[in-house]
Amino acid sequence: MLNETARFMETLFKNVTDAILVVDGKGDVIGVNPAFERMSGWMAEEVLGKKSLCDLCRGMATCQEESSCIDCFASRLRMPSFQIHLHTKSGEDIAVAGSSTRLPEDGGLGALAVILRDNSEMQRAERERHQRQLTNYVIQAQEEERKRISRDLHDGIGQALYSIMVGLRVINQLDLNHDMRQHLDEVQQLTARTLEEVKSLSVELRPSALDDLGLAAALRSYSKRFEQTFGILTTFEIGGQRRRYDSAVETALYRIAQEAMTNAAKYADTDSITLRLADQPDGVEVCIEDHGVGFDPQHLKVQGTGLGLYGMRERVTLLGGTLTIEAAPGQGTKIHVVVPLDEKGGPRYVHPIADRG
Ligand SMILES: Nc1ncnc2c1ncn2[C@@H]1O[C@H](COP(=O)(O)OP(=O)(O)OP(=O)(O)O)[C@@H](O)[C@H]1O
Ligand SMILES: [Mg+2]
Repeated sequence: MLNETARFMETLFKNVTDAILVVDGKGDVIGVNPAFERMSGWMAEEVLGKKSLCDLCRGMATCQEESSCIDCFASRLRMPSFQIHLHTKSGEDIAVAGSSTRLPEDGGLGALAVILRDNSEMQRAERERHQRQLTNYVIQAQEEERKRISRDLHDGIGQALYSIMVGLRVINQLDLNHDMRQHLDEVQQLTARTLEEVKSLSVELRPSALDDLGLAAALRSYSKRFEQTFGILTTFEIGGQRRRYDSAVETALYRIAQEAMTNAAKYADTDSITLRLADQPDGVEVCIEDHGVGFDPQHLKVQGTGLGLYGMRERVTLLGGTLTIEAAPGQGTKIHVVVPLDEKGGPRYVHPIADRG
């Protein structure tokens, strides 16, 4: 019976998916199972009697510290949950979750059994989720701030400048000498120019057409402004029916088109761009295409801050859509975005952490 139990325990030790490491009272390794060998790369014969716990453990990860030996699990009788950095044979230190139990022994310190589970994939997923959540907050905060500044510029400074213009027009009716009138003309022109600049800055920050009239109208007027500003022939094509989408979808697609077209103006050395918006029964597509110098998306030579393409991808991912870049040196650039939508024009596969709106 005892033999049977021992055999069963041995089979269990060999077959469990969690790695098991056993060290004696002095901390020298006296047992490892095949799962430990797979996790660490160390074979039993390389560690048994040859390595100690501290050779394999590079410290515990705590809330305060990435790696620390303070309150080491080995000093405790039992520690149900902790995280250590396991020193693998390849030289890499990997984060693994562990639990430990000191096995009872008469007189002296008993052996310590440490059970380890590789949670690096879980941690990576958690880090990615956290990162995406932060990006989502930043994007939303930035959008809110742009809206606020745009409104302040339009309603505050814009209105004040308009009042100044009206005041100047009244002064213009008065009986003024030649010098004064010339001076007044200059001030009037300067005020008119400043008012135009404030208006275009306000539109650039957040076009009211995007909220009032929708994506198609906002993209149409953006492409007109773009053509005037950069002198690049801009064709705006629209396919499918015209309809409104969820505000998060409209904002994201507008910002993506804006960034892709700005990139084309900055880097493509092109004289024509096509912007396409296509409504489909189950989604919406936006495509920005230039026939300029192109680039290699696998080996980006970032010329600005390099956040543009990253931001585009993040916005699309948050809406459960896809972004494809077709570009090659000398062959132009095509940015293609597809967002699957539900019947109300909201994202069909919205990312769990993304708030709509
Ligand atoms: N249409 C394009 N034609 C040629 N090169 C491009 C085009 N779009 C992007 N690139 C290349 O890709 C790089 C990365 O673009 P991205 O928008 O991510 O960053 P950036 O424009 O350099 O900086 P940022 O957008 O943060 O101001 C650019 O620096 C440029 O080299
Ligand atoms: Mg850019």
